[in-house]
Amino acid sequence: MRITVLANGKGGCGKTTLATTLASALAVSGRRVALADADPQRSSITWLARRPAEAAPIGAIDWSSADACAVARSLAISERALDWLIVDAPADLATNIGIRNRLAAVIERADSIVAPAAPSCFDVHATRSFLACIEAASGENGSADILLVENRVRKKRREHALATYAAHPPVAALRDRGVYAKLAAIGLSLFDSARPRHAQIRGEWSPLLAAMAAPMIDRVRSSH
Ligand SMILES: Nc1ncnc2c1ncn2[C@@H]1O[C@H](COP(=O)(O)OP(=O)(O)O)[C@@H](O)[C@H]1O
Ligand SMILES: [Mg+2]
Repeated sequence: MRITVLANGKGGCGKTTLATTLASALAVSGRRVALADADPQRSSITWLARRPAEAAPIGAIDWSSADACAVARSLAISERALDWLIVDAPADLATNIGIRNRLAAVIERADSIVAPAAPSCFDVHATRSFLACIEAASGENGSADILLVENRVRKKRREHALATYAAHPPVAALRDRGVYAKLAAIGLSLFDSARPRHAQIRGEWSPLLAAMAAPMIDRVRSSH
């Protein structure tokens, strides 16, 4: 099983949007995937509850109030049952020692930590300190790839402040698009959609999927 954790100290940066979209990308490609929601807001769990029965299946794991033992237990079960576990982490993962301890086994075991960040100076500042914290936490025992993703990009890539992250140059840039909220409202993502326009937008996700060593999604399973 591979584990990808969506995390960043900045609220609203796109953790849940990326978690749900990546989970559906993997599910559509036929992987056995589950989405573990470790955020008390439980946005990924509610997205899964809205997901149509005929959409590619994604398992639901509620870690929103799970302690370290419960997390370790469900990790052990998932090892055998899943190809990929996507984890939607809370915003205070790096700063709240209680949360960090609860999720320590996941951070140590993670293959990749994907940090979405908007190209604004406030987000850049928050993300920089988050990356330093998470690198220290992961570096002690883990060896996750830290993958920075520019999210909600409005202008040309070269103008972005995120280019200043020397150690973690962004692996992908996702444009600001209303389609994410529209599809999320009905439990779907870009990867569930058969619309040619959505297939075109999926191209923005290819560099991230490649950096995660995920399969390239070249077919659409459902007809939504
Ligand atoms: N690339 C994007 N384009 C447009 N809207 C986005 C994008 N990424 C996230 N959003 C929107 O931003 C808001 C916050 O995103 P969300 O994924 O819930 O962030 P987080 O989980 O980090 O708090 C949501 O309304 C979501 O639809
Ligand atoms: Mg969220």
